[in-house]
Amino acid sequence: MSWVVKERGFDPGRITANGNKFMIGNGVLGYRGTLEEFGKEELTATIVAGLYDRVGHKWREPVNAPNGLAMALRWDGAPFDVLSGGAGEHVGPAPEPLEHEQSLDLRHAVHRRRTTYRTADEAQVTVTSERFCSAARPHLIVNRISVESSRDGILTIVTGIDGDVWDINGPHLERLETGSDKDESGDVLTLTGWTHERNVPVSVAEAVDDGFGKQQERQLLRGETAIRRTLRLNCRAGTTYAWTKYVSVFTGLDKTGEEAGDPRLAAIASSREARGLGYDRLLREHAERWERIWDATDIVVEGDEEAQLALRYSMYQLHIIAPDRSEKVSIPARGLSGQVYKGAVFWDTEMFMLPFFLHTRPEVARNLMMYRVHTLDGARRKAAEYGYGGAFYAWESQETGDDACTLFNVNDVFTGRPMRTYFRDKQVHISADVAYGIWQYYKFTGDESLLLDGGAEVVWECAVFFYTYGYFNPRKQRYEILDVTGPDEYHERVNNNAFTNRMVKLCLRIALDALDLLRDRDPSRYEALLSGASVRPEQIREMHDSLYVPEPDAESGLIEQFDGYYTLEDVSLADLKSRMLNPHEYLGGGNGLATTTQILKQADVVLMLHLFKDCFDPAVKKANWAYYEPRTEHGSSLSSCIYALVAADIGVPDWAYPYFMRTATIDLTGESKQYVGDLYIGGTHPAANGGAWMAAVLGFAGLRYDGGKATLKPALPSSWRAVEFPVRLRQGAYRIRVEREALVITAEAGNPEPLPVEAGGREFAVAPGQEIHVSTISS
Ligand code: BGC
Repeated sequence: MSWVVKERGFDPGRITANGNKFMIGNGVLGYRGTLEEFGKEELTATIVAGLYDRVGHKWREPVNAPNGLAMALRWDGAPFDVLSGGAGEHVGPAPEPLEHEQSLDLRHAVHRRRTTYRTADEAQVTVTSERFCSAARPHLIVNRISVESSRDGILTIVTGIDGDVWDINGPHLERLETGSDKDESGDVLTLTGWTHERNVPVSVAEAVDDGFGKQQERQLLRGETAIRRTLRLNCRAGTTYAWTKYVSVFTGLDKTGEEAGDPRLAAIASSREARGLGYDRLLREHAERWERIWDATDIVVEGDEEAQLALRYSMYQLHIIAPDRSEKVSIPARGLSGQVYKGAVFWDTEMFMLPFFLHTRPEVARNLMMYRVHTLDGARRKAAEYGYGGAFYAWESQETGDDACTLFNVNDVFTGRPMRTYFRDKQVHISADVAYGIWQYYKFTGDESLLLDGGAEVVWECAVFFYTYGYFNPRKQRYEILDVTGPDEYHERVNNNAFTNRMVKLCLRIALDALDLLRDRDPSRYEALLSGASVRPEQIREMHDSLYVPEPDAESGLIEQFDGYYTLEDVSLADLKSRMLNPHEYLGGGNGLATTTQILKQADVVLMLHLFKDCFDPAVKKANWAYYEPRTEHGSSLSSCIYALVAADIGVPDWAYPYFMRTATIDLTGESKQYVGDLYIGGTHPAANGGAWMAAVLGFAGLRYDGGKATLKPALPSSWRAVEFPVRLRQGAYRIRVEREALVITAEAGNPEPLPVEAGGREFAVAPGQEIHVSTISS
């Protein structure tokens, strides 16, 4: 069974990619998959969810906390690590790496490395390290290291907290204060810094448990930006020497527990408590949590080991960044893998990640959507700033909901000058995406609380925004949505983007339905919402009924992406690429090569076909897939999964398969765009991770749920014998197994009611505790 991701040998060229690939996290902290000896050049990062900072006029971005896993080793005085092989100020040659392996155990979310070095006197020294970001204790990272040698020698361990960390627009911690707090079990070291903008303290504590005894030499080293301790050990050949680091990270934003308000004390207490519990116990409670997570989410693919691992890995990446404890944070476009994209939350969350959580961990889905409720004021401010009413959600949202996206988001590679981009001003579909996400949550779970706790206000305010943004064309007697950028960012400021218009129409419908619900359940809140409102429900209804939505051409079945799209140059992607003068040049914007052509960055019309499956017949879907795919650059990691989904929907899973694999392996291979202009955009890709899940479950297994009935229309790729997975639909839990010619649905005994299902040409209900087998051979 494929649960382990592994790389053998050390390749300096893979340091950045592996930092993403081998990440660990728990939704509160994300720790990059770097090695213990790495520093800021190797992009070490401990990202704290929801903590942002701005230095001067630079971009606001997440804070990278001091690195509590910093460690250096010396053998008989000679430093050794994979990077340098130990070149340094010592006498004689340094130990050199012979063998190296880095791995991730997805089942229990444990990162491991093992490196064997050859010393100057031909001895072998093997270093192993095992670490996890505790799923049970969100502020804790635990790291167990061991060393074993083939000869006697002196091992010096330098371990501590390094505050000189990787920053894109930092440094974010103004001043650093070291501390050491002694008790009978030894020192707890701390490093505390304060953010620039809001003076939020960030504190990291390190407790070490080594059992080496008092005879070993110890020394404390305080520096300007680091605090470390050294331990000197006389090692005997063949004996394993192990020690454990308990690293805690707290910030001024943490308001829990007795130590609330003083993160340094909280961090010390946490590391001390962890040291008292010990490695095995902490690992056990962590692993138990992960067992439960996988029970609720794991997908088993029979017949395709590569897809199996890639799918599990994609889910792993989502789990380690899932905000399961807070509704004040959501998932940034690069997860917790660094400061790229300003740590901002995009539409990626609602459209690409939410489905996974809705079907498996609805409580996380609720948190994700509550984040939009908490950031409504930021969206109102943005609408007002542009002269509109209602809520215009941030294209790049941080903790307040104010837009972190700048008007000049990309630099021109040729001149180095900032280019005017319209992501912030014109990707208005974001407000419809948010409304859609909130409604999806309600439909899926039947839980009205999100709507009653502010969700209804959000969708109403989004509808009001569109009412004020829309244009009534008096000649055509219809509303239109002009001057927007759709999902395809290479064509900015277009009119009547098919995707946007349809999403806006849906948003208006959702707002009306949500208002009805609010009126029934909470009349006073309903009154409060509408009293003094500048837009009335009748106006929203009128706009809904007469909003123009581009339809398929009667003959070709094609849907024009936006007004005038067909008038653009119809060049092939290869031709367009041959015109590029620089591999990183931006293809959109004023002078972009794609701007004047039909080449699109990512799924746009095809995304609409996926979201509005019922509105289009298979011939239309096929015609548009075939037209738009060759014209799509897939320049965004959000693109391939959508082509996979629609290909599966139209019954050609083998067209879908390569797009699915590209999506599911993106963070394993590290093959994705790393630069736009001179902007580094690497990191993990949670939207693609969510897309991989969607392609497998909603695409290949063909699951759909409309809030009442589940439908299964499988289309397995030829290499898959079967796929099996758990899902939550409303209050019920189910297992679904799709084989090539049959499917099995099992309902948990505790489910509150039967589930209506349509599959294999039949309609039936699955009662609690029942298992139903259905043949899917078409007659
Ligand atoms: C894509 C957007 C996406 C953003 C963050 C861009 O490259 O075009 O659709 O929201 O990346 O993932």
